[in-house]
Amino acid sequence: MEADRWDKLVAHYHDEIVSPFYGKVENPLYDALKAIPDKKEKEVAEFGCGLFYLGETLSNSFKKVHASDFSAEMVKKAKEKHSHRRNVEIIQEDIRKIPYHKKFKVLICVNALLMPSLKDVMLSLKNFHRALKPSGQCLLILPSMESILYHCLLLYERELKEKDEATALRIAKRRAERTKYDFFTGHFTEDGDTQKFFYKHEIEHLMKRAGFTNVEIKKVIYPWGNDISGFEDFPAEEGLWDWFVEARK
Ligand SMILES: C[S@@+](CC[C@H](N)C(=O)[O-])C[C@H]1O[C@@H](n2cnc3c(N)ncnc32)[C@H](O)[C@@H]1O
Repeated sequence: MEADRWDKLVAHYHDEIVSPFYGKVENPLYDALKAIPDKKEKEVAEFGCGLFYLGETLSNSFKKVHASDFSAEMVKKAKEKHSHRRNVEIIQEDIRKIPYHKKFKVLICVNALLMPSLKDVMLSLKNFHRALKPSGQCLLILPSMESILYHCLLLYERELKEKDEATALRIAKRRAERTKYDFFTGHFTEDGDTQKFFYKHEIEHLMKRAGFTNVEIKKVIYPWGNDISGFEDFPAEEGLWDWFVEARK
């Protein structure tokens, strides 16, 4: 989805986007931020900041905060809310074209590496690596493809309780909107827009390719009952998730 499509989402962001900063989400990013030592001596960057929900937290804990997004409308809203903070700069820029060299000690990007082009994803990760100071810390949240497969399994299992295997599979595939996913590329396509989801092995591979070390991956777990599941909920089961990625330069 390109910047003009994101511009249009600003007005009804929470109707359209499931956020790891909203509601009862188990989000390991907060603990990772708390654990960073000497934050008052460090500059942090958040790329693809959107409405910049982390603005207050980052401004209060770090020496300097650079935040950016390629959507002019997102930047405008983020500025309205956060530009009074003296240690924060918010600008418009594209992750694929950021020019920074060894500038930030900590870099954050939450559900903004969504572009379907593998080249764009690889380029963006290399840009992040280049932007970090030596031994700098990269904190990402990425949509999970395994979470989609897990949801498919729960749907299939539910249908199997009452139907024969072939019927259960057919219904589960329909309910999981199977035709909108490409399980090879991790793409989800709807209304002409294609978004990237990531497999865990793919993240490990791509992070290493970009030059990162010490790659650790955890889950950001969402509660059932929001549209992360297309309203096909299984409250007795573990929730669906995004990937939280921690890595070092
Ligand atoms: C799902 S929103 C997440 C916003 C924010 N990180 C959050 O979690 O609240 C994705 C954001 O990434 C931005 N984005 C997508 N592709 C981008 C790119 N290539 N460069 C910069 N920002 C991008 C969009 O404009 C949008 O604001």
